[in-house]
Amino acid sequence: MVDNTDISNEDTPTTEDGIFGDAVRTKRTGLKMTQRALAIVVGCDPSYISLIEVGTRNTTGERPHISARLRTKFDRWLNDRDPNPWVEIPAEELTEVDKPWPKPEPKSEPTNAPHRHKHFATLRYYVEKRQHTYLWGPPGSGKSTGAEHVAEALGLDYGYVSLNPQTSEFRLIGYKDAMGAYQETAFRQCYEHGGVFCVDELDNANPALLTTLNGMLESQLGAFPDRIVSRHKDFVFVATGNTNGRGATKAFPDRRKMDAAMMDRLVFVDWGYDSTLENKIATKIIGARKGVQIARWVQSIRRWAETHAPLLSVTPRATFRLCASLDSPQSTDELLNSALFHSIDADTKRNALTSHPFMIDRK
Ligand SMILES: Nc1ncnc2c1ncn2[C@@H]1O[C@H](COP(=O)(O)OP(=O)(O)O)[C@@H](O)[C@H]1O
Ligand SMILES: [Mg+2]
Repeated sequence: MVDNTDISNEDTPTTEDGIFGDAVRTKRTGLKMTQRALAIVVGCDPSYISLIEVGTRNTTGERPHISARLRTKFDRWLNDRDPNPWVEIPAEELTEVDKPWPKPEPKSEPTNAPHRHKHFATLRYYVEKRQHTYLWGPPGSGKSTGAEHVAEALGLDYGYVSLNPQTSEFRLIGYKDAMGAYQETAFRQCYEHGGVFCVDELDNANPALLTTLNGMLESQLGAFPDRIVSRHKDFVFVATGNTNGRGATKAFPDRRKMDAAMMDRLVFVDWGYDSTLENKIATKIIGARKGVQIARWVQSIRRWAETHAPLLSVTPRATFRLCASLDSPQSTDELLNSALFHSIDADTKRNALTSHPFMIDRK
């Protein structure tokens, strides 16, 4: 979520915001410009381009409301009949108006924090080499965020889709609507023009979709509903999953075994939890003293659960929720249910709290 008056998820988006986003995307891809290049040409933060074009990652993809000021900047470029696709202006020649606007500050969401996961350097190494990668590890360990961060760090565009067994291949390759117009996807943009494309929960995908994906990775050409497209040299596929690709586990009984051809195409990175990162994010939310206390307490419950309650998933999200809601009006019991225990049975909860009492001062 972006904290800036020029682009807002709080104001209700209008139909014009959607039409405007489509126009920006159509023109940019027609000119074969990257999102970053366009951001520099119009003078705004690169993260805006993806928000304007395809909407937010965690919602239904709704486009945000765009202020008149920002729109004017894009309108100049949209109405230019002979736009120069990509001219880098030397820093000393930038006028006040041309200077990129400051990067939006994160609100309460810690996603934009500069902290990196302990395996981030490994991921970066492979993505730099344009090797397709599979990050596998427990929920909340920062896999999806790692994929987003690596695109940002390498100046590549970023696209994302989360899969479940019902997700059809059209979420990847797009489709032709009733009027015969091709509706493209973030996957198509990355495939054709370069970028990191993250497929979340690959081990939860439907087999037909995986077959399509496999073909797209194998060949230099991809069959899309409108035409055959050459794979861009900067297209990198980063998938995530909760299992190691060898099939279901106790905690994830529905996950599928990965097809040998797909497995052969991916570099596997065992992502895992990073407690130092968890402590740093907790510190950012609530300060070092309480943040580290809370993170350590959640980590001790996590270790306890590994042997005593393997179905209780104690992820770093529990730490972040507790840090953010320590001052909620709930009783401590209610707060722990909301943030961590959810609907686990009373015995398991009592045993966890007997082994590791919650002694953190909530004031
Ligand atoms: N490097 C990081 N810096 C800041 N926040 C992070 C980082 N990695 C993960 N997070 C936060 O931790 C939570 C879980 O991360 P996520 O990437 O969704 O995990 P996963 O994909 O493994 O389930 C999210 O709220 C995310 O914002
Ligand atoms: Mg994820």
